[in-house]
Amino acid sequence: MKYRAIIFDLDGVICHTDKYHYMAWKQVADELNIYFDETINNRLRGVSRMESFEIILERYEGAMSEEEKIKYATQKNDVYKELLKNMSPADLSDEVKETLDALRSQGHKLAIGSSSKNAGFILNQLGLGDYFDAVSDGNNITNSKPDPEVFVKAAQFVGEQPADCLVVEDAKAGLEAAIAGGMECAAIGDAKSCGLATWNLDTFSDLLKVTG
Ligand code: BG6
Ligand code: MG
Repeated sequence: MKYRAIIFDLDGVICHTDKYHYMAWKQVADELNIYFDETINNRLRGVSRMESFEIILERYEGAMSEEEKIKYATQKNDVYKELLKNMSPADLSDEVKETLDALRSQGHKLAIGSSSKNAGFILNQLGLGDYFDAVSDGNNITNSKPDPEVFVKAAQFVGEQPADCLVVEDAKAGLEAAIAGGMECAAIGDAKSCGLATWNLDTFSDLLKVTG
């Protein structure tokens, strides 16, 4: 078995929270009169909450103190968490669940490697609260993707070497993180276009063709 463990990004791979991130950031941006659209929102994939806000603030005319930045980021997260309450097991596609189950029955360990501090909440909403062998997320790291920390910790949590892990990502920053951590990676969605991945997946179940 080439990959003893498979480490999944959460947002954009296991589920789709982009619209909720967008709606929550849009409220903050509107309040501050900052231009913000879905193209800018795409740049926030894989990026931590505070780094995301810095990207939004590139279009802000004035100066903002660290306290204010934290206030607005907290406000965004409060709105985002309310929106996440709309998520349920119905937001987990049959394709994703069946592929995860097949990978597990082949003997792969399955872990999450997400920049999000809300990963546990989202997994619970999806009915996956106890599913993964390990969850490494925004709560156990100090450096966000493209730093490899979140994936290196996930590998440690499941007791495997980086060279024996495959990372699955939808963001360029996530592919860079996997490579920096010494791991092969599979790209899905937008991340395919950057040409960094070991494998490009047309659809999630294509993982079964490359995990051997
Ligand atoms: C990542 C998302 O998974 O988590 C980013 O792709 C997001 O868009 C980041 O900014 C941090 O999320 P949270 O839930 O901790 O604000
Ligand atoms: Mg992602």
